[in-house]
Amino acid sequence: MTSDKTRKASGDANINDLRGRIDALDDQLLDLANQRLVLARRIGALKRQTGAPVADRHRESNIMDRLLTGNSGPLGTYDLHRFFGDLMAAARRVQSRDAVCAPAPVYAVFGDPVAHSLSPVMHTSAFLHAGLDNTYLAFRVSDIAEAMRGVRAFDIRGASITLPHKVSVMTHLDELDDMAARIGAVNTIVNRGGRLCGYNSDWQGAVAALAEKTAVSDRQVAVIGAGGAARAVAFGIKKKGGRLTILNRSRKNGEILAAELDANFIPLAEVKKLACDIVINTTPVGMTPHEDTIPLDSRILQKEMVVMDVVYSPLKTRLLAAAEAVGCTIVDGLAMFVYQGALQFELWTQTDAPVNIMRRAVQDALLPETELI
Ligand SMILES: NC(=O)c1ccc[n+]([C@@H]2O[C@H](COP(=O)([O-])OP(=O)(O)OC[C@H]3O[C@@H](n4cnc5c(N)ncnc54)[C@H](OP(=O)(O)O)[C@@H]3O)[C@@H](O)[C@H]2O)c1
Repeated sequence: MTSDKTRKASGDANINDLRGRIDALDDQLLDLANQRLVLARRIGALKRQTGAPVADRHRESNIMDRLLTGNSGPLGTYDLHRFFGDLMAAARRVQSRDAVCAPAPVYAVFGDPVAHSLSPVMHTSAFLHAGLDNTYLAFRVSDIAEAMRGVRAFDIRGASITLPHKVSVMTHLDELDDMAARIGAVNTIVNRGGRLCGYNSDWQGAVAALAEKTAVSDRQVAVIGAGGAARAVAFGIKKKGGRLTILNRSRKNGEILAAELDANFIPLAEVKKLACDIVINTTPVGMTPHEDTIPLDSRILQKEMVVMDVVYSPLKTRLLAAAEAVGCTIVDGLAMFVYQGALQFELWTQTDAPVNIMRRAVQDALLPETELI
């Protein structure tokens, strides 16, 4: 039998061997990066002659697209953008002294906890793909009032707001978008020259995700839940002309939301059958680490229904798996997450969001390590 000592010695030798090969590759990468910069510097000289600007966002987007198409992994979408984004930033710096000094506009997500947030992966990939030299950071904050003072003091250009601050942040803003005010929650802030404007892109994200698979107007829609996500989804459905029923565990919360939206209410435990076209789970039921839970009896589902889950970890919740088995059309929580992020991007940058890149970046991040491309 191999002793622990022998196994350790053999493991160390293998690590040293692999590290030696990594060092050799790093030398090649360094040489290649410098060769790339020499070419970029020559382009810089030509740009000076023709008066062309140093930064060319269209060219940078095209480079990213070409590289993504040819990428066979395991470099994921986010890391590919970080790696080549840094190379392109270095190329801008060898072309222009201004590019050395220009401070990058900062964007951020505020929440508690926030370490699990996929917003940094999604927005950083989107910014780099669009050739924007923006930085996106995650801040774990308990005092949202102080955080908003920080946004003003540091001129943070825009922010995503996540739990538990979506409601409490509202009193620290200068303006509220109409839907954010009606929903009673803000998940997006735009800093317009020191004026902080609050939006809710969750409702638009939900509606856009559904629109990929079904119309909403005049459809009977059952929303499970009456919390923050339910409010955004239900107000969005109502705005798009859907006919709403709220199903919720606690009667009080369900009835309050249903009354605000002129919707029907059924206590979740009493649902035995459902006459509806669309079912949307907005509760955390089914979310990791409780993947084996389901918010309602799957025997209620009919194959003509569209079933959506706002939970995106796991991507295929038990509810969605059961719905798929019945033959329903399913919409996962990733679609809503990506669309709400795309709307944030567009509010911040006034340019079209690279939705597919954002989706790929988040999808990669949700894959177990062993399955990364
Ligand atoms: N995909 C996206 O882009 C996106 C966006 C926002 C949120 N989300 C997800 O949406 C989920 C809910 O977030 P939230 O902000 O709405 O939370 P929340 O405000 O705390 O509301 C939770 C809702 O779920 C219900 N609920 C909780 N546990 C339940 C259980 N065991 N059985 C039945 N009902 C239960 C609660 O019912 P009671 O009223 O009876 O307490 C409440 O209505 C989270 O998983 C979040 O990650 C996803």
